[in-house]
Amino acid sequence: MLPKNNRGLIRICNQETRSHAGWPVSPKVVFTDFLPTFVASKTSVAPKPFSCRIPAFDSRTPPGCPEYLSPRPRYISMPEISDRATGLPESPIRKLAPFANAAKEAGVKVYPLNIGQPDIKTPQVFFDAIAAADTSLLSYSPSAGIPTLREEVAKYYRRYDCDVVTDDVLITTGASEAINFVLRAILDAGEEMIVPEPYYANYLSFTMANDGVLVPVPSSIENDFALPTIADFEAKITPNTRAIMICNPANPTGILYPKAALAELLDLVKRRDLFLIADEVYREFVYDDHIHHSVLSFKREYENIIVIDSISKRFSACGARIGNVISKNEKLLQMILKMAQARLSPPTFGQIGAEAVYQLPAEYYQTNIAEYQKRRDVVLDWLQKIPGVVCPVINGAFYAMVRLPVDDSDRFCEWMLKEFRHKNSTIMLAPGSGFYVTSGLGSDEVRIAYVLNCEDLTAAMECLEAGLAAYPGRTGTTE
Ligand SMILES: Cc1ncc(COP(=O)(O)O)c(C=O)c1O
Repeated sequence: MLPKNNRGLIRICNQETRSHAGWPVSPKVVFTDFLPTFVASKTSVAPKPFSCRIPAFDSRTPPGCPEYLSPRPRYISMPEISDRATGLPESPIRKLAPFANAAKEAGVKVYPLNIGQPDIKTPQVFFDAIAAADTSLLSYSPSAGIPTLREEVAKYYRRYDCDVVTDDVLITTGASEAINFVLRAILDAGEEMIVPEPYYANYLSFTMANDGVLVPVPSSIENDFALPTIADFEAKITPNTRAIMICNPANPTGILYPKAALAELLDLVKRRDLFLIADEVYREFVYDDHIHHSVLSFKREYENIIVIDSISKRFSACGARIGNVISKNEKLLQMILKMAQARLSPPTFGQIGAEAVYQLPAEYYQTNIAEYQKRRDVVLDWLQKIPGVVCPVINGAFYAMVRLPVDDSDRFCEWMLKEFRHKNSTIMLAPGSGFYVTSGLGSDEVRIAYVLNCEDLTAAMECLEAGLAAYPGRTGTTE
């Protein structure tokens, strides 16, 4: 019997296979040899290349077993993969990696502007704390996180006049796990979360993985990706809406939301009984004289507010995998704690290092932010002078969502990696469409992460300018 959607159909080894591929064969060889022929003859679905272990080909299976002697082809179905997993989107940030790898293997310098991986060194105190800890037994930590780290996080927020105590903080395996836990705690199947679009691409993956629906509310480059109006948000609210999620300062747009707009949003979620999830992982990354306002600093609507945070960017410690969720809604935190208990504990080493970096003095942040501001300026200067490029105001995080004079930014990004070389270098960008759920939007935009030093950024921008000039699908300037 053919499995649903003809997915996962494979052919059991038989005489034809043995004469074709010989015996013994590796499962991968047989699979890739056979599947395309089979799929082509039975379905119109193009085979997706992947490898897996096929029990029937396990070398421990005696070759004399009846299945192998059967002269007729036989088919087995692989265990079904869920529609939920199959439907998840690809990461726009990583999907061009194979082309970048091929370029690098050919000796080309590839500037990675696609991913928010800071190049600044992780503070030494992170490693010193781990070295000094008694790690003779690497045990689980409490599921909610090491209490002293939870207190350090609370103290950090109190410095910004947010009334956070240890019990309001749960440590997670990165902000990613925090988002996942929160969505699982607040969304039932088919329930909705409203998010300004473009958004951090993984919000969609996490919403879908939790059977929720991401409802976009558009923001536009013409308007510097300003927070949509309250009327825009209201128009998207249905009986199924459970939350509004914002990222401030925003990935991918680099916009910082003003205090008044946040206050209005708090009024809205109170009035409509919704959660407001504020992803503040970039809260320190604000430039010029701007000030970041945490939703917690308003000291109201505590039942509605959930803050997501992380040490990944703030302390250049993406690999530590330490984040947290903060809420004064006790009931919600209890639900999240059940999930945290099921996954046992966040990483112990990461927490030890995190506790140390949270104690860094204010100068650490100042130096770091001054460096990012220089980088922001380099990128802005270049983008503003390249003909046809539209770059909005960017005053936070370390990203810019930029419009390019190209027919299709997916094609352009791929072309840059596969075809274009400038002084034996090229750049890797994140195509804009992956940051939108609305079909067609973002197809002339790219996200640029300015996480390289100024010299490399200058070389990368020069490469972008040369690439745009040479790209066959260049469109008229949009200035
Ligand atoms: C807006 C935003 N939220 C969350 C995350 C995930 O952070 P973490 O590394 O802590 O899982 C990222 C990572 O890039 C991000 O940009």
